Formats: sequence, C-alpha cells, structure tokens
Amino acid sequence: MKGIILAGGSGTRLHPATLVVNKQLLPVYDKPMIYYPLSALMLAGIREILIISSPEYLPHYRTLFGDGSALGLQIAYAEQPRPEGLPQAFTIGREWIAGAPVALVLGDNIFFGNGLSSMLRRAVARIQEGGGATIFSYRVDDPERYGVIAFDAEGRAVSIEEKPEQPLSNHAITGLYVFDAEVCDHAATLTPSPRGELEITDLARRYMDTGTLHVEAMGRGFAWLDTGTHDSLLEAAEFVRTIQHRQGIQIACLEEIAYLQGFITRDAAETRGKALAKTAYSRAILTAIDEAPTPLPFGERRTGDRRRG
Ligand code: G1P
Repeated sequence: MKGIILAGGSGTRLHPATLVVNKQLLPVYDKPMIYYPLSALMLAGIREILIISSPEYLPHYRTLFGDGSALGLQIAYAEQPRPEGLPQAFTIGREWIAGAPVALVLGDNIFFGNGLSSMLRRAVARIQEGGGATIFSYRVDDPERYGVIAFDAEGRAVSIEEKPEQPLSNHAITGLYVFDAEVCDHAATLTPSPRGELEITDLARRYMDTGTLHVEAMGRGFAWLDTGTHDSLLEAAEFVRTIQHRQGIQIACLEEIAYLQGFITRDAAETRGKALAKTAYSRAILTAIDEAPTPLPFGERRTGDRRRG
C-alpha cells in the first residue's frame, strides 16, 4: 500500500496567514499541520509516500522531509499546477502509484483517537486482500460543509453527496480514503461537478454502486479536526495542546512513530531526538527509546499507548 498526501490549495479562507506560507505548513500548536496526516499514514504502516502540492510550495516540503529516509520512509513529490479536485491526486500520481493500492489523506485533516492505528491497518489489509475502497465517516453538526454519506435501515451506504444543501444524515466523510488499484482508472473517467471540480465523493460513489465500498465509522472516542478557518485552526491547536499537556504524550511525533513501528533504528531516533533538543517533541522521541529500548521488526505491533499518533 502506498500513500498520497494532498497538500495543495490556496488557503484563501486563512488569508493573510497563507499569503506566503502553504496552509499545510502552518503550525497546529507545536508542529506543521502536515505532520498530522503523515502520522496517520505511518500508523497505517505505509512507508512509500507522495506529497502533492503547488509548484511554489514543493521546495518547502522537500526541505522539511527530504527523501523521507530520516523517518524510514520513501517520500516523493509531485506538482499540482492548479487545484481541480481531490481525485486529481490519482491522475497526477498515476505513474508513481504504478498499479498499487493507495491511501489518500488531505494535508489539513487531523485524526486522533484510541484504536486509530488498528482501524487504519484493518482498512489497509482488507483492500490489499479483497480490493474495493474504504472511507471513514464522522458525525458532525454541520454536514453541509462536507461530503455526506447516508445509510439504509440495515446500515448499508445508500447515498453520497458533496456539500448537500439538505444533508440526508449527519455523517461527514473525512479526508482519508483507502482505494484498490482500480482507483486511477476511475479517476481518469470522472467529469467535473457543477462547481467545476473533480469530486472525491463521485469516486467513492463508483465503489458504492458496485457494492465494494466499506465505511468505517469513527465513533465518539475519535477526534477529527478541521483546520479550514482561523477559528477551527486555533481550536485544533488547543485540542492538541490540551491532550499533550494532560497526558504528557505527543500527537503526531513522527520520529516516535517511526521508531516504535520499526521504521528507523534506535540510533537514528536518538540522533533526531537530540537534534530537536529542548522541546516536548524531542522528549517524546527520547522517552520512547527509554520505554521501548529495541524497536520491533516492521509489521509487528507493540501494544500500549504510544502508537496512537
Ligand atoms: C473535501 C471533500 C469532502 C470531505 C472533506 C474532508 O472537501 O470534497 O467530501 O468531506 O474534504 O475534509 P474540501 O475540504 O476540499 O472542501
């Protein structure tokens, strides 16, 4: 399974904060926004990652992550000349995807919750074994701002709509999707919606119509946070700060996750931890090493709290 992070867009609702800096590089409390969706892919066990952004911002992502090896990842980069909808990720990324199943996460989506890692790994395994697609739903108070999914009495998905004026349910579709290798062919044949964009909801509907769409509900114990406006960005930062302070853990500490997943060696984790000294982020890396002196071989899971991301 490969993973794509779509970090494009002009972030107009966050002007003037995003006049010069790409939205997904703004901090959410103590780390760049893109760390959060990247941590979700890493927790799913995905190590080959493509970051798609506009040409002017790609150099910043290259500076931040390089080839990904410091995190035990292979990170590649691709340009999105103009934002024309999320499914563009699969036409831009087609060659890189090279017929593999692929997860897509939006660079401004933040996920947190106990059991997230197993939920993601389950989704990846299901698609690798049986194909199809998995999307993640989350109950919200303002579904008209999102893709909305509705179910019949048996709990089967029956309708998917993009930002409907009259939503049929309160279940938003989050910005995390896992697809089989067919996704590139589907994306290539989509046509723009009335708002002039290719819609991820149209792509998901293809799978729903053939009975191969799986919907995982992120329940009450999960947080799916929005960062689309100045207020929601600040609220997301406050959430991260509250959890981190209360529990003395880090959300989306990439080196900690890489170490605990067995992506990087103890020495590599320690070097990064020391290089980022004097931060809670650095302490989290060094504590992970103390508490788990040997990383696991890739694929094995260590039980305990530290894998939540
Ligand atoms: C996009 C999708 C929408 C989804 C949302 C999640 O909307 O089109 O279906 O619910 O991401 O963040 P956008 O944020 O591009 O308006």
